[in-house]
Amino acid sequence: MLTFPDGFLWGAATAAHQVEGNNVNSNWWVMEHAPGTPIVEPSGDAADHYNRYPEDLRLLADAGLNSYRFSVEWARIEPERGFVSRANLDHYRRMIDACLDVGLEPVVTLMHFTVPRWMDQAGFWRNPEAPDLFARYTETVLPILQDGVRYVCTINEPNIAAMLAGGEKAENLVAYGLPNPDLQVADALLASHRRSREVLSSVPGLQSGWTIATQDFIPTDEPGAAEKLHEYGYPRDDWYLEESAGDDFVGVQAYTRTFIGPEGPRPVAEDAETTLTGWEYFPQAAADGIRSAWEKSGHTPILVTENGIATADDSRRIDYTEASLRAIHDTIADGVDVRGYLHWSALDNYEWASGYRPTFGLIGVDLETFERTPKPSLGRLGAIARQNGL
Ligand code: NOJ
Repeated sequence: MLTFPDGFLWGAATAAHQVEGNNVNSNWWVMEHAPGTPIVEPSGDAADHYNRYPEDLRLLADAGLNSYRFSVEWARIEPERGFVSRANLDHYRRMIDACLDVGLEPVVTLMHFTVPRWMDQAGFWRNPEAPDLFARYTETVLPILQDGVRYVCTINEPNIAAMLAGGEKAENLVAYGLPNPDLQVADALLASHRRSREVLSSVPGLQSGWTIATQDFIPTDEPGAAEKLHEYGYPRDDWYLEESAGDDFVGVQAYTRTFIGPEGPRPVAEDAETTLTGWEYFPQAAADGIRSAWEKSGHTPILVTENGIATADDSRRIDYTEASLRAIHDTIADGVDVRGYLHWSALDNYEWASGYRPTFGLIGVDLETFERTPKPSLGRLGAIARQNGL
């Protein structure tokens, strides 16, 4: 058996906008309903996780998992600039308590792609006040993080967020995964992260970091391919990983790989297996991401905060997860300090511009009745968690 380190976190992840439902004060809600939006469908009620989280947490814990990553929603906590919703802060504290009650270590993300509408209207991350606003939001959330929370992620995938920067312009959404991040936004995200980390450091025992899409871009051996690689990810993704050297941990998020030819990213090879997001089935992605994050962050401890597969064939999810975990185990055997594995996702959910079709969940969700159906992959990951190995 491949045994994982003592205290290893075994869990699943979600993000507020993708599962809660009716996130009406957020910029994404606005974009979903904008005329001509490239987003295939609105999020609506999502998985109604806002109301049904107790049932979801119970299912994860009963399966054998010991951790749950979720995000608190800025648009609910501060629906208007300077106005704090005490009720929504209480809601998220109840979620933290519910995690602790069933034995799930909460991993809390402060910003997972969505911001309040007012923030969008005020220039989004291009507003020079953005780092102050994010620091103030962190201070607002701080009281509910005081007790029982060890891991806090400030900003989810800043390297992708910088490409989604044109929040107010729906057409920028199609740039998801393409190069040309907005450099002003990249700077603002770095500054916001630093400010937030500073605020979080006042809580004893709290560990903070951010979560990076460690994109596995592989240049082909054709002339010009290596140069092209510089437009895609490198060196820009490295800024965020290098910044992690000042953090307590770095979140690695990886799903697939992409070959870069002289003309840019290659479509997935015809004979390769693809998933419901159109990505290549490539379970070594997380291990590759771990190795690169470990080097570039100067050996900062690693949490795999997302890894998974969009598929309607749950047996492929099981195969993917097991292969991924074996490769992750190799990195640990090589001396990398990996602290946990949080599968994306706990639930079938709203995959942003692609809507509900790509199903990443360990638990199926009926979008009309909200009925939950745990999949065999949940049982398998839970069994691995119970024996701390596979
Ligand atoms: C990265 C994002 O953090 C998450 O929101 C998304 O659903 C998954 N990857 C899959 O694309």
